[in-house]
Amino acid sequence: MQSPQVLLVLSVTLSLVAIGATDGGFCSAPSILDRETSSKPMYWKVTNPTLSPSHLQDLPGFTRSVYKRDHALITPESHVLSPLPEWTNTLGAYLITPAMGSHFVMYLANMQENARSALPPHDVERFIFVVQGSAMLTNASGVSSKLMVDSYTYLPPNFEHSLRAEGSATLVVFERRYASLENHITEQIVGSTDKQPLLETPGEVFQLRKLLPQAVPFDFNIHIMDFQPGDFLNVKEVHYNQHGLLLLEGQGIYRLGDSWYPVQAGDVIWMAPFVPQWYAALGKTRTRYLLYKDVNRNPL
Ligand SMILES: *[C@@H]1O[C@H](CO)[C@@H](O)[C@H](O)[C@H]1NC(C)=O
Repeated sequence: MQSPQVLLVLSVTLSLVAIGATDGGFCSAPSILDRETSSKPMYWKVTNPTLSPSHLQDLPGFTRSVYKRDHALITPESHVLSPLPEWTNTLGAYLITPAMGSHFVMYLANMQENARSALPPHDVERFIFVVQGSAMLTNASGVSSKLMVDSYTYLPPNFEHSLRAEGSATLVVFERRYASLENHITEQIVGSTDKQPLLETPGEVFQLRKLLPQAVPFDFNIHIMDFQPGDFLNVKEVHYNQHGLLLLEGQGIYRLGDSWYPVQAGDVIWMAPFVPQWYAALGKTRTRYLLYKDVNRNPL
């Protein structure tokens, strides 16, 4: 009956001796943390509470994901991948859909080797941004463009195209039913973030790039916004437009309505029209996020 306890005491003692020998004593708490998978000192939970950030993701049943009437935070541990309809060798996770109230879908597509995309539904336009790997885009004339990380394409409604992954590739995809206007059409666009100019942001400190032309035919745009640590939005925005956001780099606090969420790279946010919204960048590295915004149409 007692031998397990004796063994535990023995192993704790031995590991403490080992830590003491290599790191010079009990003050080197981080080293004890690093080794805790092999041996845990007595009372270790007092100083390593389960809710400390390093353990949060391992807590059974815990997720930072939230779904409310006017916003949602979808964090990576909540992603559920399943085969994307009609795509080959591709798993997808729909993160924002009209079931939440949006007029667009936002999903991640994980393409494996020899994966191939399918076309969106009739009259639906598509925007693709490469997060990892690369993919080859080919249009109906057989003209191909290689899309690397940080590059993107806009595909007008009913535009024949296909994407093939050479290795693996992770894409973030936005689709919506195109809000057509008389005498206006959109055209295919291929670009990369670093080629887009920085735009004026009066009264704000973040850096802004827009990936699509600011022209009437386009019914949405995709913004890339960069914040240095400590930077925050000046305007506490409340507006008619909706947003789908992917945090590409960094961490900070997102305010959505009356809730304040710690967020980090990989998190996705849905913002319904008129939800109060605000962001502050924290940590030691820049924040970069990608943001869908509907534009250029009368909301009526
Ligand atoms: C395919 O892309 C090329 C290069 O951008 C363009 O010249 C051509 O018109 C495109 N084909 C179609 C059918 O849009």
